[in-house]
Amino acid sequence: MDVENGLENVVAAETALSHVDGAAGKLIICGRSLDTLAANHAYEDVVALMLTGQVAPLPEDMTAALGRARAEVYESVAGFAPELGAMPVIDGLRTLMAMLPDGDDTETALRLIAAPAVCTAVLLRTRSGRALIPPRREARHAADILHMCGLSDADGPATALDRYLMTVTDHGLNASTFAARVVASTGAGLASAAIAALCALKGPLHGGAPGPVLDMLDGVGTPENAARWIADALGRGKRLMGFGHRVYRVRDPRADVLRGAVQLLRNDDSVATNERLALAEAVEAAALDALARHKPDRKLETNVEFYTATLLEALGVPRDAFTCVFAMGRVTGWVAHAREQARTGRLIRPQSRYTGPMPERAA
Ligand code: ACO
Repeated sequence: MDVENGLENVVAAETALSHVDGAAGKLIICGRSLDTLAANHAYEDVVALMLTGQVAPLPEDMTAALGRARAEVYESVAGFAPELGAMPVIDGLRTLMAMLPDGDDTETALRLIAAPAVCTAVLLRTRSGRALIPPRREARHAADILHMCGLSDADGPATALDRYLMTVTDHGLNASTFAARVVASTGAGLASAAIAALCALKGPLHGGAPGPVLDMLDGVGTPENAARWIADALGRGKRLMGFGHRVYRVRDPRADVLRGAVQLLRNDDSVATNERLALAEAVEAAALDALARHKPDRKLETNVEFYTATLLEALGVPRDAFTCVFAMGRVTGWVAHAREQARTGRLIRPQSRYTGPMPERAA
């Protein structure tokens, strides 16, 4: 048997949850395209869609159910946050999530979906020495995340964050989702699966590398400098962060949704300045222009990381918490995939090829 390092061409699961069509530039979530969902729905609707058939009973009012779940998580974790203040925030999140009870029922699923939001807010407030802000049960999930973090939860920022959460909810059998399915396939509970997934997300090859886009914006400095900086970087053989994609051969559909979300923040007095957004636009335009000339045979388009970085920075999220915000959206995918695997799948147990020495034969 051939070894498929990285499992690129291995189909390891059947799923009705999401489909990435890299050739057409489409992301389909439970039968709906991402752009249609983003234009007409809120994150709570996507949570309901993803959990349909995976947990029962499904709450009729997902906004209220997630509000209750946030309150429960807050009660469970708030007292422990001071112990974790010195840890990187992603490690604090992993530790707090491990304190939640495991299980396979609806309440466990909803608590886990609420957990990255509540735990991250609690950790960020604690490390900056500010009073904790408890969740508001009646609020929408995205608005309450901003509120709990002490950031502006005005309509523009709240809608922008809602779109971001929706955009990253699920993306086929990515590394963290696969980790969740492996754990779920053993019969361990949803919390175990979600924590394994979070550990996979932490790595820089998955969810841990949005910072380089901001480093590039810092390096460019002003819109007038964009073309020169980019030509210089490409001339030195550097890759431009936030451009190109392994699966999408056309434009990453998530980049378009996030670009629209960033536009919602333009002229919004409650968040970071238009100046930074104008810089990001100038850099994108200069990069696309330069990449088209640099690699005429290869379509290198803006990817999801470029606008993720721009959006989260504008909302006021600290750079080292970007991965935690990614987890706030992707956790719904982890939970739904874990349930789907447990309900319909089989123990995931691939084989390895031994390359070590064999024991010597007895003389
Ligand atoms: N800037 C400059 N050149 C690029 C870029 C880029 N962003 N992306 C690809 N190229 C060039 C490569 O240098 C290579 O040139 P060569 O043939 O002369 O060696 C050619 O295009 C093909 O590169 P591959 O690595 O084969 O392209 P692939 O599609 O497999 O890689 C990847 C995708 C890793 C994302 C790449 O485009 C890249 O490094 N981008 C920058 C980092 C980035 O934005 N990462 C986030 C991706 S989004 C996500 O993972 C959620």
